[in-house]
Amino acid sequence: MGPHGCLTGDADTEPFVTDYRRIYRGKSPLVVMPTTTEQVSRVMAWCYDHNVPVVPQGGNTSLMGGAVPDGTGTAVVISLKKMNRVLAIDTVNDTMIVEAGVTLSGARAAADDARRLFPLRIGSEGSCQIGGNLSTNAGGTAVLRYGNMRDLVLGIEAVLPDGRIFSSLKGLRKDNTGYDLKHLFIGAEGTLGIVTGAVLKLMPQPRSTAVAFVAVDGPEAAVKLLGEARAVSGGAVNAFELISAPALDLVLEYLGDVPSPLPGRHDWMVLIELTSGTDEATLSGTLMEILESGLANEWVVDAAVASSLSDSQQFWRLREEISDAQTRTGGSIKCDISVPVSRIAQFIDKASAEVLALEPATRMVIYGHMGDGNVHFNPLRPKDRDAKDFLAQWYQPVSDLVDGLAHAENGSISAEHGIGVAKRDDLGRYKSPVELELMWQIKRALDPKELMNPGRVLPQSVD
Ligand code: MLT
Ligand code: ZN
Repeated sequence: MGPHGCLTGDADTEPFVTDYRRIYRGKSPLVVMPTTTEQVSRVMAWCYDHNVPVVPQGGNTSLMGGAVPDGTGTAVVISLKKMNRVLAIDTVNDTMIVEAGVTLSGARAAADDARRLFPLRIGSEGSCQIGGNLSTNAGGTAVLRYGNMRDLVLGIEAVLPDGRIFSSLKGLRKDNTGYDLKHLFIGAEGTLGIVTGAVLKLMPQPRSTAVAFVAVDGPEAAVKLLGEARAVSGGAVNAFELISAPALDLVLEYLGDVPSPLPGRHDWMVLIELTSGTDEATLSGTLMEILESGLANEWVVDAAVASSLSDSQQFWRLREEISDAQTRTGGSIKCDISVPVSRIAQFIDKASAEVLALEPATRMVIYGHMGDGNVHFNPLRPKDRDAKDFLAQWYQPVSDLVDGLAHAENGSISAEHGIGVAKRDDLGRYKSPVELELMWQIKRALDPKELMNPGRVLPQSVD
């Protein structure tokens, strides 16, 4: 690896063994930072021959402890940060080939320079990397329109645990030649191999954007407004994000310098973004039509329409900073559930009532991607309660309650944040025996020595 390709010693390895929220702390004798796929392959082959566990790491922004090693101090961390080149852009095929360590914002900027859009959008885009986005099948705030990361990729390159290189970087939109193996590595959180490169899909850039911050009568009214917005706009809804009053209170307090977009306090709000290939005036007219219909039906209580780029950036800032506002406050029970959109309002009402029955002063920080049936349902400690104390008492019972209600609605206990170590053991209770068996069979087929990101994703073996 050369002298600049390795880090050893606690001080140098510390940023790679601790997650960004400082909840998961592990140990590693060695962090390697390869610059080519061949280097990754040789490191992996060496580790395989010597039975050394490997933890792949991208931007280390996982919320689930999926990207840091455990405390045994036996695993080598492979950081992809130096594999950060955009290798090719093809504006006829509308594809871009990138190395895994390109940040999401880097990929978006490269697409923008080519007058194209790479649509994945998440708050951590400046730090998170394409390899991590693929390994966690990242979602975010434009899934409603463009899908998850799995939908935005045509091929990947990955190094297998024994060092062999799997490559499907052809950039084909059609290729029905048997199993589509790239999907094994997408969402696998580095448990089957290490993603080193990808062919990403590029989309046309929209010509216009319209954004509104809307107070709604409640989650049910929000769902109705979503249906209306999709129908009226002919599919131009790019984002539809729910925000509860305690979530807005928290982020306003955290940011300090950003005013609330609406006068007064409202229990529920949504941030709506439309984008289209039409001109600004036409799209603004569509947004007004949606809001007027919402007012007439009494789903909408009040609305602020962004009249400039800086307005819409401020609205988005309020939404995107909710996550960090919680991290700073501490004492947040982070549940990331999804249910069918048709059940999301009932889920929110029921789960909120049951959590408040346990601890009435809990701040119900609920926000996120309602248009995908996915909310971050994050009960937060009462203001006067110590964070550690609150989590010690309520983390497990409240997570179990919320996940159980989502599961009962045919939902998921982790809609977009993945499993990592945080949800690993819970997964054993919610996946069927057949699903768990298949997961382990795939794991053992690709990683027979169980060296890849050990102890992550897969619950206890079901031999
Ligand atoms: C978000 O939507 O803000 C992210 O998924 C992060 C989070 O929920 O904390
Ligand atoms: Zn999210």
